[in-house]
Amino acid sequence: MDYKDLRKEYLKHRLDPASLHADPMIQFKLWFDEALQAKVDEPNAMVCASVSAEGKPSSRYVLLKELKEDQFIFFTNYHSRKGIELFETKFCSLVFYWRELERQIRIEGIAEKCSAAYSDEYFNSRPHGSKLSSIVSPQSSKIESKEYLESELKRISGMDASEIKRPEHWGGIGIRANYIEFWQGRQDRFHDRVCYTKTESGAWEISLLAP
Ligand SMILES: Cc1cc2nc3c(=O)[nH]c(=O)nc-3n(C[C@H](O)[C@H](O)[C@H](O)COP(=O)(O)O)c2cc1C
Repeated sequence: MDYKDLRKEYLKHRLDPASLHADPMIQFKLWFDEALQAKVDEPNAMVCASVSAEGKPSSRYVLLKELKEDQFIFFTNYHSRKGIELFETKFCSLVFYWRELERQIRIEGIAEKCSAAYSDEYFNSRPHGSKLSSIVSPQSSKIESKEYLESELKRISGMDASEIKRPEHWGGIGIRANYIEFWQGRQDRFHDRVCYTKTESGAWEISLLAP
């Protein structure tokens, strides 16, 4: 297989800047609704890139769980690599790609820890097994084998549901957006791109970008 032969034309939609909402968070919700209608698989999966104190980037998928004001919120282990990097340097970029719609959304912003009360509320709504996994897993740490974690899981699985509390090092992180770009794939790679940049006054400025 020659990877160079892999070639797809983007023909499904166009992005008319005049049709866009002045608030990119509302525009995001409109596109998200269209992704749901188009039955995009896991439309809330987004690549989350962080950067270490030395300036080394790393990225991984996480799941968007809520939009709040200008924040994109996901949940994770604060001691994980991403947790450490996001709290150390604060800079984050997120990317969604919805292939069924040939759409990409890029977000840049600043990471903020969610309140304990907010994280408790979400943690308590999670399925029992997910709660247990987040309690026993020292996410991103090197481990000798999974057996020890499995035995820990077994040990706490007998606990009464009321005893299971959110670990302090697990909770929500909100990425407060200051840049959001909507990308619509078009024929011959002549894509449509519109970005919103937050100005010092807090207003959003809209610009077109070359494909
Ligand atoms: C589709 C998808 C969704 C994921 N969602 C999350 C999530 O919401 N939170 C999380 O901590 N890890 C999530 N993961 C696992 C992360 O990609 C990653 O493996 C883990 O968080 C450790 O990353 P780190 O070592 O860079 O901190 C998800 C993975 C995939 C493939």
